[in-house]
Amino acid sequence: MNVSNNDGSVVALVPAAGRGVRLGESTPKAFVTVGGTPMVRLAVDGLIASGAVDRIIVMVPTELVESAVALLPPSESVRVVIGGAERTDSVRCGIAAAPHAAHFLVHDAARALTPPELIARVVAELRAGAEAVVPALPVVDTIKSVDARGEVTGTPDRAGLRAIQTPQGFAADLLRAAYADERLQATDDAGLVELLGTRVRTIPGDPMAFKITTRLDLLLANAVLDGARMAGRS
Ligand code: C5P
Repeated sequence: MNVSNNDGSVVALVPAAGRGVRLGESTPKAFVTVGGTPMVRLAVDGLIASGAVDRIIVMVPTELVESAVALLPPSESVRVVIGGAERTDSVRCGIAAAPHAAHFLVHDAARALTPPELIARVVAELRAGAEAVVPALPVVDTIKSVDARGEVTGTPDRAGLRAIQTPQGFAADLLRAAYADERLQATDDAGLVELLGTRVRTIPGDPMAFKITTRLDLLLANAVLDGARMAGRS
């Protein structure tokens, strides 16, 4: 625990070190452009525009450190560090680079169109005392569990399910504790914190915070930006 070193700051960690093969591009996903701008730049611009984040640490593959520095805004509050083999390794690298943070946001570069207003709402919850807060949307599809043969084993009540987005916000010492145990595994950061027994609060998410994972997502993101630009010109 690091309470005495806590400087009160909100530090956003942006994992951008994935290889992103699902998008079918040769460029790592976070560096693929949407509306002409790399996703990681859009994500960082959104964090800055929220006015709620003090520092931003972007984790990228070793060979892309220089390119990342060149394409991100030249600001003392934005830093690029080398990520790791898995997303959890990349987040761990980011945590290590911010020993004095009071609060962490973990925000996927792939959620490039996240509205700054959503980011500010997550930070407001942290400032109001929440230890762990995640944006959540109701699930529109029926979700089923299946076994290894693809046979359905259950249909959980959709009313009690949520799709979880980023940024996910945490008291810094809580996230440090969750990542200190390398045996813990989860598909998101809040999942690790849940394994420690901490309750995670949800706030309403935003459809624009969708994760750009497939070609279809990329088409949608480009169309959204085109539409916004056309509306700006009219
Ligand atoms: O692959 P997925 O969509 O789950 O990746 C989520 C985010 O985690 C992406 O922004 C990706 O760049 C990042 N990531 C990372 N380090 C890895 C793998 C993924 O920073 N080793």
